[in-house]
Amino acid sequence: MAARGNFSSRIGFIAAAAGSAVGLGNIWGFPYEAGAGGGAIFVLVYLFFCFALCFPVMLTELAIGRKSGRNAVGAFEALGHKKWNFIGKLGVLSGVLILSFYNVIAGWAFGYTFEMAAGNFEVTEHFRAYTTNIFAVGSYGLLFMIATAYIVSKGVSEGIEKAAKVLMPSLIIMMFSLIIYSLFLPNAMAGIKFFLLPDFSKLTSTVVFNAMGQAFFSLSLGMGTFITYGSYIKKNDNLIGSAALITLTDVGIAITAGLMIFPLIGFISGGSLSGVGRGPELIFVTLPHIFGEIGPTAGAIVGMVFFLLLCFAALTSTVSLLEVPVSYVVDEFKLSRKKAAWLMSGIVYLIGIPSLMGNGYSSYFSEFITYIGADQPTDFLSFIVNIANDSFLPLGGALMVFFAVHIWKKENMEAEIAVGFENYENSWVRKYLRFVMPVLLPGTLFIIFSMIVLSTFFGF
Ligand code: TRP
Repeated sequence: MAARGNFSSRIGFIAAAAGSAVGLGNIWGFPYEAGAGGGAIFVLVYLFFCFALCFPVMLTELAIGRKSGRNAVGAFEALGHKKWNFIGKLGVLSGVLILSFYNVIAGWAFGYTFEMAAGNFEVTEHFRAYTTNIFAVGSYGLLFMIATAYIVSKGVSEGIEKAAKVLMPSLIIMMFSLIIYSLFLPNAMAGIKFFLLPDFSKLTSTVVFNAMGQAFFSLSLGMGTFITYGSYIKKNDNLIGSAALITLTDVGIAITAGLMIFPLIGFISGGSLSGVGRGPELIFVTLPHIFGEIGPTAGAIVGMVFFLLLCFAALTSTVSLLEVPVSYVVDEFKLSRKKAAWLMSGIVYLIGIPSLMGNGYSSYFSEFITYIGADQPTDFLSFIVNIANDSFLPLGGALMVFFAVHIWKKENMEAEIAVGFENYENSWVRKYLRFVMPVLLPGTLFIIFSMIVLSTFFGF
């Protein structure tokens, strides 16, 4: 199995795993979800879910991956439960679907980097026109996919790890420079207050659900990313420490993204925070407009840096999304890594074309499906989001935790966690895992999955 590759160091693994977690979900998704979900109260619920619910799922994936030393599908067979590998197959399918639309959005961000550099802030007014121009955005998306495939084709330590070790620190430096810049703008503090001081009257079930979904997606859980990455790490690593570091980095970057963006919103709204688009259009419509207001040269620089950092964050995520199916094909069908990477990325790019066309170019894909009880049609990209992110990920997470505790057996999982962590027997983590993993965690995830399916697709 030596040919599969390994991370060369613990820090390399952490960079790659945190790179997977940190992505569009943190820098694009998190601020707009927080903005729409009442600000700080959303942040609080999100933090709770990351640690209480998501952390054990990450640990489960890592333990399955390291013990089996196989891909997301083969892992179940390697542990002696081939019948359960449908969980891994669901994960590979989720990965392919998520990457197909994720790459489209990454392509927009990539294109925006050049628009900002050229001082073309009016893309703001014409976001629809921008995404409708599918030959341009499709080419940016294609370049992004090629970069992803190239990194994955180079292998675990020479491609994924090396790229993450360059991209992640650059990302952090760019973010901190922008925070310092935005904090000095007039009315920055109004934005910070909204983001950090919770208003408990804004706590609703929608906030709770969205925070949960955001936490799960942001931590790359439920599809075997960490089974795959876990299969490349050394036996003596401390899994609990690694999972904690990855979670902290991901949460830290999400909060940092908020600290970067909310001062800008405070600035543009003159401190009132009203009249500013805070939905999904936050990044692609509101921010470029703000960059334009900052001034032609400064705005172009800030805007370019912002979208470049968004691309860097997205690239380590697309790499991890591609690695799940690639690792599966390499292990199970004995394809060379190079072939697997280019083949899978080609397939994923084709699957992403309807998502590309469904943002204004083709009315068929823009109004693809109307769910039962809905009065508006849903576009193709959102349809895939509803299926893969909103439904498959919590279902996959529930199944993996159930599998680990009841099929693989909790003693075996605990034995794997204890490797590299001598005090596990007496640790509070063990007590906590014993408390949540058997019923509470898989049950909650399954209920969330059911409620999402019923409410999204069937109008309950
Ligand atoms: N977590 C990444 C983000 O926040 C996206 C991502 C990468 C992902 N791999 C994943 C999401 C696996 C779910 C599952 O943008």
